[in-house]
Amino acid sequence: MSKLKLINSLENYQSAYQHSIKNPESFWDEIAQSFTWQKPYSQVLRWNFETPSIEWFYDGELNITENCLDRHLASKGDQIAFVFEPNDPKSEGKSYTYKALHQAVQNMAQVLLNQGVQKGDRVCIYMGMVPELAIALLACARIGAIHSVIFGGFSAQAISDRLIDASAEFIITQDGAFRGNKTIPLKPVIDEALLQCPFVKKVMVLGHANNPISMHKDRDAWLESELLAVGNAEVKPVSMQAEDPLFILYTSGSTGKPKGVVHTCGGYMVWAQYTFEQVFQYQDNELHFCTADIGWITGHSYIVYGPLLAGAKSLLFEGIPTYPEADRFWEIVDKHQVDILYTAPTAIRSLMGFGSEPFKHKSLKSLKKLGTVGEPINEEAWQWYKTQVGQNHCPIVDTWWQTETGGVLISNLAGITPERAAWATLPLPGIQPVLVNEQGQIQTEVNPETGYVHGNLCIQFPWPGMIRTTYGDHERCKNNYFATYPGLYFTGDGAYRDASGNYRITGRVDDVLNVSGHRIGTAEVENAINSHLGVVESAVVGYPHEIKGQGIYAFVICNDTLHSKVNIAQDINATITQAIGPIAKADKIQIVSGLPKTRSGKIMRRILRKIAEGELQNLGDTTTLLDPNVVDAILKDRL
Ligand code: WT7
Repeated sequence: MSKLKLINSLENYQSAYQHSIKNPESFWDEIAQSFTWQKPYSQVLRWNFETPSIEWFYDGELNITENCLDRHLASKGDQIAFVFEPNDPKSEGKSYTYKALHQAVQNMAQVLLNQGVQKGDRVCIYMGMVPELAIALLACARIGAIHSVIFGGFSAQAISDRLIDASAEFIITQDGAFRGNKTIPLKPVIDEALLQCPFVKKVMVLGHANNPISMHKDRDAWLESELLAVGNAEVKPVSMQAEDPLFILYTSGSTGKPKGVVHTCGGYMVWAQYTFEQVFQYQDNELHFCTADIGWITGHSYIVYGPLLAGAKSLLFEGIPTYPEADRFWEIVDKHQVDILYTAPTAIRSLMGFGSEPFKHKSLKSLKKLGTVGEPINEEAWQWYKTQVGQNHCPIVDTWWQTETGGVLISNLAGITPERAAWATLPLPGIQPVLVNEQGQIQTEVNPETGYVHGNLCIQFPWPGMIRTTYGDHERCKNNYFATYPGLYFTGDGAYRDASGNYRITGRVDDVLNVSGHRIGTAEVENAINSHLGVVESAVVGYPHEIKGQGIYAFVICNDTLHSKVNIAQDINATITQAIGPIAKADKIQIVSGLPKTRSGKIMRRILRKIAEGELQNLGDTTTLLDPNVVDAILKDRL
C-alpha cells in the first residue's frame, strides 16, 4: 500500500494535528510504515536544536527510488508517471509509464556506475527541463550518489563556486536547452566553469539542442551512446541509511556565498509524499502540473519526488508561459487535461497583464485544484487566479515553505481546510510554528484591535523533511538557522497569526530578496557589483515590483577610472550576470557619491530600503549618520 490516508475534513485535520503534536513519534511511525524499508527502523526520532542534530528513522534503511518506482510496478506499471511537454508545441512530446521510467532510471544508473560514480559521490546536474533531468536525479539516488542540481540560469562562476563547495567530481549536462525562442548553451558554460575545477573527472552530455559544443577527450562523454551501450540494465536500489544525504541544493542566505542545503533519504521521502498528497488532496489518475524548474526545491519535491512517491502523474514542461504565445499554460492544461496547477505568484501576475485574450477558445474545465508557491501572493492576483483560471470552482492552496524545509509547512489543504486570499493559513500536521519578537520571546497574545499577532516565524519542533546540515560546514547551519533564537529553527520570514491560528507570511526579515520567486542574497549581488573595476562600494536593497514581487535596487559608488557613466548600469549588470546569472540583474542602478553610514562604518540599509521603496516621508532617525548630507544627495537623484 503506497497511498496515504488523506485528511478529509477540517475536524479530521484538527485531530490529526493534535495527534502529531501530542505524540509525534506514533504519528510519523504510522505514516512511515506505508513505505518500503529495506531494513526497518527501531526509533522514529532523535533530536536537539542546539548542535543541531536531527535524525528521523535513523537506523532504518531504504532507497527512495524503490519507493518512487519499484513498489508501483505491480499495480501501476503501465500507468503514466511523467508527461513531457516540449518547449516547441509542434515538436513531439513523450510520456513515461512507471515501467518505462523504472528502466530509464536503471539505464542511467548503469551509465553512472560505468563512469565510476560511487555511493556518496556528489554529482552536479546542470540541465534544462527535460525528462532526462528527472531521470538523472533518480539514477543518482538509485546508486546512492548525492545529486546537486544547479538551475540552468546560473553562470559559470556560480557553477564553479558550487562544484568546489561540494567537491563534485561528476557532472551531467546537455549541449543546450530550449527556452522560448532561445537556445541556452549549457555545456559551454560547464566548460568555462571547469577551468576553475580541475578535480572534475567526468562530464556526461545529453544531446538535445544541437548547438555547437566541444568535447574534451577522456573527460566528456555523450550520454546517448553510453545509454545505448547499457541495453536494458538492471541496477538494484542500493540500501541507504535513513540519514544518508539524498541531495544538496544551493540557496542564498543573507551573508556570503550560497549554502548547500542537505536533505536526507528517509525523512525527505516521508515528507515529500505526505505533503504532496495532503496539500493537493491527490486522487488517483489526476495529472499534476507544477510549473517550477527542477533546479529549485519546488521541482525536486513536487515534480519529481512527491508525485512519484505517490504513484501520481506529473507533467514536466520544458518551456516558458509566454512561448509561443501568452496562452501556453492554458493550452497545456486543455491539451493534457491537467487536474492540478501549481505555479508562482510572479507567473500569475505576469499572465494577468495579458488580459482575457489568451483564454479565448480555452476550456480549462479539467482543472480541479490550484496552488501557489514562492512568495506572498497579493489579493488581486489571488482573485484573478480564482476567477479567471479556476473559474470559481477550484480551491487555491497557498503553500509556504523553503528550500530548507523540504516540502510545504503551512498551507490550506485543497478543498478541505478553509482558504483565504493572501493567507497560507494553517500549519501541516507535525509543524509547530511560533512567532517571536526581536528578543526571541514567543508572542502569544493577539492584538485585540487588529486581531493579529506579528513576529519572526520560527518552528519549535523537528519535522521529517527539514534541513540536516549545510554541506561541509555544520557551524554555518547552526549559525544561520538555530542560533538566532536558541531552541528554535528560524525561517528568516516575518508573519502574522490570527486568533484561529492562521498564518499570513509577510516576507523576509533578513537581507534576502525574493525576485520573481527566486531567492537572492543582497550580499551576493553586492560582491558581484564590487568585483567591477570601476566600482568602489555598493549597497543593494529590494523594492516592491509589480510583477517580480521585489525588484533589485543598487546604490553604487564608482571611482575615477570610469570615464563614461553612460553605460555603467549595463556594464554592472553584465558583471552580475557573469558572477551569478541574469536572474540577479539589478532593475535600478543609482550612481551615488556616498552611502549612508553610521559612525562605526555600517551601511544603514533601513534608510536605503525606504528610499528604494519610495517611502520618503519618514526615513527614520538619521542623526546617527556619519554624514547626513549623503541622504539628501541620494534623494535628489533617486530613480
Ligand atoms: C522563501 C523561500 C518554497 C519553495 C520555493 C522557494 C518565500 C515561499 C511562500 C508563500 C509567502 C513564500 C519565503 C521563504 N515564500 N512560499 N506561499 N507565501 N512567501 O523556496 O527559494 O527557499 O525561498 O520564499 O520568504 O522564506 P526558497
